[in-house]
Amino acid sequence: MSREDDRSLRFYNEVLGLDHLHYGIWEGNEELTIANLKEAQLRYENFLISKLPSTAKKVLDVGCGTSAMTQRMLSMGLEVHGLSPDKTQKENFTQNLNVPFYHCLFEDFDSDERFDCMVMSESAQYIPFVQLFEKVRKHLNPGGHLMICDYFVLDHSEGVLAKSGHNLNQFKAESEQQRFKLIDERDITEETAKTLDMALLLAERILKAAEIFSEKPRQKHPILSKILFRLFRKKWDKINRDRDLIDSTAFKDQKRYLFLLYECQEQEG
Ligand SMILES: C[S@@+](CC[C@H](N)C(=O)[O-])C[C@H]1O[C@@H](n2cnc3c(N)ncnc32)[C@H](O)[C@@H]1O
Repeated sequence: MSREDDRSLRFYNEVLGLDHLHYGIWEGNEELTIANLKEAQLRYENFLISKLPSTAKKVLDVGCGTSAMTQRMLSMGLEVHGLSPDKTQKENFTQNLNVPFYHCLFEDFDSDERFDCMVMSESAQYIPFVQLFEKVRKHLNPGGHLMICDYFVLDHSEGVLAKSGHNLNQFKAESEQQRFKLIDERDITEETAKTLDMALLLAERILKAAEIFSEKPRQKHPILSKILFRLFRKKWDKINRDRDLIDSTAFKDQKRYLFLLYECQEQEG
């Protein structure tokens, strides 16, 4: 995970005070507030917990983020191990929890441990999918499950939106190829997309604050301000380009946010 990703995770956690790093599930006409975003994230977590198979006694939380989900599953009496390549998350996890943690990319994971279920909450998109299914199979007990909740890219997707997330059709084809049977699926695109409206609102507020605080220096030092503006123009253009990433209408058109529950089947031959 890059330093930039690490910074954005710290922003959600340390600035916005969010315990989770996923989109959440919004309901009806909920107002765009941080409190409602937290509620939506809790609703999402409850949903995943409700979908855990009854056979899941030993679980690997792949890309465990702030470890909120790990802690929730531990409180249910499950045996849970965590995995993340992120240094900040490793420190947070190992300081707060006394259960095994694997500090690596999932595609590099290699252990004698076997799990009944692997949970990938918004982390599957970072793992090359051929290796994803291979590694899951290697570390699952017979008949084990893989739970994925993440967004995927549709075939007609283009531009920045096409860059994050696996192509849905390719991902599903690979799962069949590697004999993972889809036993439950729910499309939550509509309920998750509102988090992007929230992100846009926050971005606009932050830009407004920057404008207000730079008003005086701009009046006092117009030449210096112009030089700085030129210097930061590229950054500014990038911020504007990135706005496409938080356009909820484009997201709903080009992506699908899905809950997928797979059962790992025996390989032929
Ligand atoms: C958007 S966060 C989701 C965190 C948490 N699962 C949640 O739902 O709040 C993505 C997580 O995936 C992890 N991640 C990124 N690349 C990964 C990889 N190749 N293998 C395993 N985890 C990865 C990140 O460190 C982070 O924990």
